Amino acid sequence: MTDPLPEVRAWVEAAGQVCVLTGAGMSAESGVPTFRDALSGLWARYDPQELATEAGFRSDPQLVWDWYASRREGVRAAEPNAGHMALARWQAAHPGRMTVVTQNVDDLHQRAGSTEVLCLHGSLFVDAWLDPCPRLARGELACDPRRAAPGRPPRCEACGNLVRPGVVWFGEALPWNPLDGAQRAARHCTLMLVVGTSGMVYPAAGLPGVAKHCGARVVVINPHPTELDGLADVVLRGTAAQLLPQLLLTP
Ligand code: OAD
Repeated sequence: MTDPLPEVRAWVEAAGQVCVLTGAGMSAESGVPTFRDALSGLWARYDPQELATEAGFRSDPQLVWDWYASRREGVRAAEPNAGHMALARWQAAHPGRMTVVTQNVDDLHQRAGSTEVLCLHGSLFVDAWLDPCPRLARGELACDPRRAAPGRPPRCEACGNLVRPGVVWFGEALPWNPLDGAQRAARHCTLMLVVGTSGMVYPAAGLPGVAKHCGARVVVINPHPTELDGLADVVLRGTAAQLLPQLLLTP
């Protein structure tokens, strides 16, 4: 079997617009656990209903708050890997030609230097109110969750509203702006790289199909089989930190 890398490298060089969709595997080599890997994935050890739903948070806010705080600490201690760096370098060397869309709630793409990253599932580092701030109903500005009284979780001194992690939980809608930007990027790219995602969570997992439908080539980069392999023009079996630097060459 011939090595598909040179051909994909040529597609990258020729692509007018490259859209990169990343998932937890993108950060695995930085030491951030994935969700669904059989032994090391977070969902092998923890119950997503308990830790990644609004109902779970309402039933035990401290448990859920502490879990996200420990993930935040883990990410703070991690560094972007060679894959994040290769994407950021290529994006900087080819202005306007690459859109990074991520399902990750870490900030490793941004810390590597990627710009305008579209974060579909929110961020571990931006908190939100659990319930709408009552000031909104009075036509006033909402209180700032960063000013909440410290606690696990912090709470509003005026109304008792709880601060929650600013990540998207199961059953919640994705934030409109990044989703809209991601859908546009999928429609307009000529090449989509799908890196480190199992392709099991929609609407993110629908983006490669949109790109394909609109005429783009789709390349999956993953050491293991994924739900998206069937629609890929090429599947590269390897890791993000190994393959992206070989694929994204910069002068
Ligand atoms: P998953 O945990 O479902 O999938 C991670 C993927 O990364 C798997 O396909 C692995 O084979 C692959 N992988 C592991 N190590 C890798 C490496 N070094 N390089 C490349 N790939 C590697 O994670 P996601 O697909 O991101 O949602 O999961 C999607 C969403 O489900 C997450 O954003 C999260 C989760 O519940 C929310 O928290 C809202």
